[in-house]
Amino acid sequence: MYAALKSIGSYVPETILSNKDFEKMVDTTDEWILKRTGISTRHIAAEDEATSDLGYKAAQIALDRAPVEESEIDLIICATISPDYLCMPSTACMIGEKLGINNVAAFDISAACSGFVYLLSVAKAFIESGMKKNVLIVGAEKLSSIVDYSDRTTCVLFGDGAGAAVISATEDKSEAIVDIHTSADGRYGDFLITPGCGSKNPCSNEVIENNMQFMKMRGNETFKLAVKTLTKDVIDILDKNGIKSADIKHFVPHQANYRIINAVGKALNLTPEQVVLTVGKYGNTSSASVPMAMNDIYESGRLQKGELMLLDTFGGGLTWGSCLLPFSGTNYADL
Ligand code: ACO
Repeated sequence: MYAALKSIGSYVPETILSNKDFEKMVDTTDEWILKRTGISTRHIAAEDEATSDLGYKAAQIALDRAPVEESEIDLIICATISPDYLCMPSTACMIGEKLGINNVAAFDISAACSGFVYLLSVAKAFIESGMKKNVLIVGAEKLSSIVDYSDRTTCVLFGDGAGAAVISATEDKSEAIVDIHTSADGRYGDFLITPGCGSKNPCSNEVIENNMQFMKMRGNETFKLAVKTLTKDVIDILDKNGIKSADIKHFVPHQANYRIINAVGKALNLTPEQVVLTVGKYGNTSSASVPMAMNDIYESGRLQKGELMLLDTFGGGLTWGSCLLPFSGTNYADL
């Protein structure tokens, strides 16, 4: 048995925050944000919208587009760093409950912005081992709940959203995920960290007064490591599989900063047509960024059945990963 990407869907909340809005909140400018990150706007969830609400809406779309019934889904996995609840229940369980899929395994994984590639690797392993047949994977984030809107070095970067996919067993090797690479290095754990409200620094007045419940990032050091690690990782996965960068139809990287994406694209000699860029309108949505970008090219008709994609992610942990896979679902125009 092989594992194949059968459908994709995404959801973004209605409210949009523009760079001009941030000029009124912190000491920043539209020009600085655009020049340093490529971001113009990001979507922000409503107060009463939780991460599972965003994930549920993306999952519903992915399920509608998949050639399987909801009753055939036998595993739900969600990647998130902004779960509905700190400890339990998992956001995957909440998404299952909203979908009415209640008697299957469901759990969350934590791999920050690499979440979607990690999800694909777990789904692939479950399917290839024969344990599961149809896995619903969801990258969902309400990052606005862990962003410090008084910290200009992070608040302008992040947005909310969700992307989902159905991964199914197939005997047809041409449909299969070709290869996945995931890795991590905890020595860089403090490059991206939410220091408070976990077991190390449990929630207390002091933690809250010091804004330790929010994301902190050593941006410039993360930037340099991201370019180096991402470039090496994609070159390795292409070499290992005897695939040239010219054979990649769509390069779908984690959408954190257009300068990181351009640097990696340049190192691989990719053309602008090959590189998928959505950071400008969504900002960094962590585990949701790659499936949201895939959904953008899918709905615009750019992504067609059988076309080869290269995914590339990097995030807190530090974690990173890449994946070579064809799209094996129904073309958008034929839904
Ligand atoms: N507006 C105006 N000035 C700002 C802002 C802002 N919003 N933010 C920072 N600055 C200032 C800094 O204070 C600094 O000022 P100083 O020189 O007086 O000290 C100056 O701009 C330069 O700051 P740098 O941090 O060196 O700027 P850089 O060019 O590195 O851009 C950025 C910052 C956008 C954060 C970039 O480093 C980046 O994209 N890093 C990587 C992010 C990433 O990939 N993260 C991984 C995934 S995220 C996840 O896993 C959740």
